[in-house]
Amino acid sequence: MNMIPCEHRVPVSLGDRSYEILIQNELLSQLGKICQALGLAGRMAIVTNAIVDSLYGRVVRGALKRAGFACTTILLPEGEGAKSLSWLGKILDELVINRFERRDTLLALGGGVVGDVTGFAAASYLRGVPFVQVPTTLVAQVDSSVGGKTGVNHPLGKNLIGAFYQPKAVIVDPNVLQTLPKREWVAGLAEVIKYGVIADSRFFEFLETHVEELRSQHEAVIPLMVRRCCEIKAEVVAGDERESGRRRILNYGHTVGHALEAWGKYATWIHGEAVGIGMVQEASIGQYLGRCDAEVVERQTELIREVGLPVAMPKWTFSDLWSGMQHDKKVVGGQINCVIPERLGQMQVLPLNRPDIQKWFSRHGASNAKVFPLRRGPALRTRTVRKK
Ligand code: NAD
Ligand code: GLY
Repeated sequence: MNMIPCEHRVPVSLGDRSYEILIQNELLSQLGKICQALGLAGRMAIVTNAIVDSLYGRVVRGALKRAGFACTTILLPEGEGAKSLSWLGKILDELVINRFERRDTLLALGGGVVGDVTGFAAASYLRGVPFVQVPTTLVAQVDSSVGGKTGVNHPLGKNLIGAFYQPKAVIVDPNVLQTLPKREWVAGLAEVIKYGVIADSRFFEFLETHVEELRSQHEAVIPLMVRRCCEIKAEVVAGDERESGRRRILNYGHTVGHALEAWGKYATWIHGEAVGIGMVQEASIGQYLGRCDAEVVERQTELIREVGLPVAMPKWTFSDLWSGMQHDKKVVGGQINCVIPERLGQMQVLPLNRPDIQKWFSRHGASNAKVFPLRRGPALRTRTVRKK
């Protein structure tokens, strides 16, 4: 891989599953050379959706074909609904029908939805085939493409079915974020802010002092910001690949966030928005329990609000919240464990009990309630379409 020059490289050190995150504008046009340098050969199944395909499919296929890869494109529908057992099955059908072999590669071109389901398909097809992440949303570039969490949703909860399966490389072209809808960009900023809160108070300060650049998607800050997030994620994952300890800090905001997503039927908030609300509410729970500095709550809420994210919970009941939280993967023996900051850069895992959260909810939970309307369109396709 070193023979491919690249502006920013972040190693993910996981023994024989180690790989690099390459970050540079215009990297899409070098995909073929990079895949060759990775030792990949044979065919490539590009899994994407119609929007991303229309924007970047041609350049990706061109780059791969120039390097000698034969490409098949598998199109998924738009939105969280593609992260399902049924769409996983359709990807696998395509691989079987096209007689993909063990040395052939799956390439995820898209956001976290495409990356998560494609990674799981790669983990399960023939008990594991190579896979490359080419993330095209901010959420995917700073979070979902790194660390090997792959999977699909169950109607009762997010990401309940999946596998840890690491990609061969993560290839990040920050330029592609220029075509991202504003709402998706802003949602990704929630995950960016998360890294500042969980691991790096100086990065948090940097974000606080660059709100205008964040809002306006200023080109100069993007590659550096993406790199810092990837460095933090890579360091956490390298120390705890399977989330037996420290990796849980990456789930900050997700206990409430996932409950919101499921309650909203994955069509009310997009993932980053739900995480932003989750961070605000989980810090508020921590403060109520006397375990989180007021300063974190205030600065974090301010920053999340300033970049344009929602912070309030909807008009839901305590039992909506509590039952949603029960499906969190950090539940052990029925006990809900929530990751909450003590102060910026210092996290703790707090067991939550029902009476405390009920009291917190009755005091804070229903305030300022507002449901954010669905703005995403329905699924674009209901079947896979192949391009050769
Ligand atoms: P997404 O994958 O649904 O993509 C958002 C939208 O952006 C889609 O409509 C897509 O078509 C469009 N899009 C993608 N790239 C584009 C581009 N460059 N230009 C224009 N449009 C573009 O949403 P997401 O926020 O990327 O991912 C959310 C998913 O990621 C959730 O399912 C979440 O659970 C998962 N996730 C996983 C991890 C992990 O560690 N595996 C971490 C965080 C989030
Ligand atoms: N996004 C949470 C994790 O990768 O662990």
